[in-house]
Amino acid sequence: MSIKKIGILTGGGDCPGLNSVIYGIMLKAYDTGIECVGILKGWKGLIENLTIPLNIAEHDDLHTVGGTILYTSRTNPFKSIESKEKVAQDLVAKLDELGIDALIAIGGDDTLSVADAMCKYAKANVIGCPKTIDNDLAGTHYTFGFWSAVQLASNAMDNLTTTARSHQRVFVVEIMGRDAGFLTMYSGISAGADIILIPETPFDFERDIVEVLRNRVNAGYKHHIIATSEGAYPKNESLERDFNTISKETIDNLPKDTYGNPLLAKLNISKIIVDELNLRKDLKSDFQNNGVDFESRSVVLGHTMRAGTPNSYDRILGLRFGLAAMKLVLEGKFGNMVSLQGNKIETIPLSEGVKKKYITKDNDKMELRDLLVKIRYLSKQK
Ligand code: F6P
Repeated sequence: MSIKKIGILTGGGDCPGLNSVIYGIMLKAYDTGIECVGILKGWKGLIENLTIPLNIAEHDDLHTVGGTILYTSRTNPFKSIESKEKVAQDLVAKLDELGIDALIAIGGDDTLSVADAMCKYAKANVIGCPKTIDNDLAGTHYTFGFWSAVQLASNAMDNLTTTARSHQRVFVVEIMGRDAGFLTMYSGISAGADIILIPETPFDFERDIVEVLRNRVNAGYKHHIIATSEGAYPKNESLERDFNTISKETIDNLPKDTYGNPLLAKLNISKIIVDELNLRKDLKSDFQNNGVDFESRSVVLGHTMRAGTPNSYDRILGLRFGLAAMKLVLEGKFGNMVSLQGNKIETIPLSEGVKKKYITKDNDKMELRDLLVKIRYLSKQK
């Protein structure tokens, strides 16, 4: 089948580099005489016929601009009660109605699962491009936007160090990442955070926070930065033993991880940590014995982490993904997605790419984190 017109859509949370992918697609499409149409607001735009023409002459250097010119949403048509075949066929009919011969969907596991289902149940001409600021998609070493966000969080923690030092404070910095700790781990190590908490390793409040702060203050440190993923949470026994500011009812109503630990992700973990630390008279007196009045503040970096322009790495990765996705369209390799393996752009089935990934125990960042946290105070102990 000869391709004359392609659709492009972006779904899920935005991130720096989405426009870079779009521009990479447009460059190759223009060069091969293919028309591009933007489908607005992710899958919602396909259902509701929300489209714009994408004329490359009007978008010079789009790869340098943050966010997505196509808007985005978290609409997932397969969450309806209709049969998967019917939903997939309806979506393909929408593409036909719009005269779109092939579609490139740029998004995370949710968006790409729709692309995968369209191919599986209706043999749709769809190619995927992986996107998530959290970098927790299996099948690609890095997603675009990730390194921009790491730099941003690292800079924020570098900057917070000066005010932490001036006031001799403990700052608890909450970093995006509901399920995986890549953003927190990488930015925390980069900025030299004093404690790094991620969802993959549920923490013990007493051992991993109170004890470390006590050891640090006894070693002479007067300010401290704790980097925590928004999805980090305490181990069950620590939650029962150490936490006084969350009611039993709240805990009982929370979803649990595979080991039965309640997931505190929705509860603003940085504030909980600060509230709990404020109740610790023993820790406060350790601080005072070292001439420091205990003061703690929480900072939620939140959506600032997805905001702004992509860095050079993400601009180039986005362009490479866009070019590679367009080439897959030209080769008719539908049902696949582009991915980064080492420094090479490869092709993998959509069904592989939609799987999630986490920081595993054998990842060298785990050891680096543990060394970074403890060696500084250990090496100064008298
Ligand atoms: O999945 C990406 C992500 O940025 C998470 O890190 C974060 O929890 C979530 O999206 C925020 O979503 P929203 O923009 O819908 O608030």
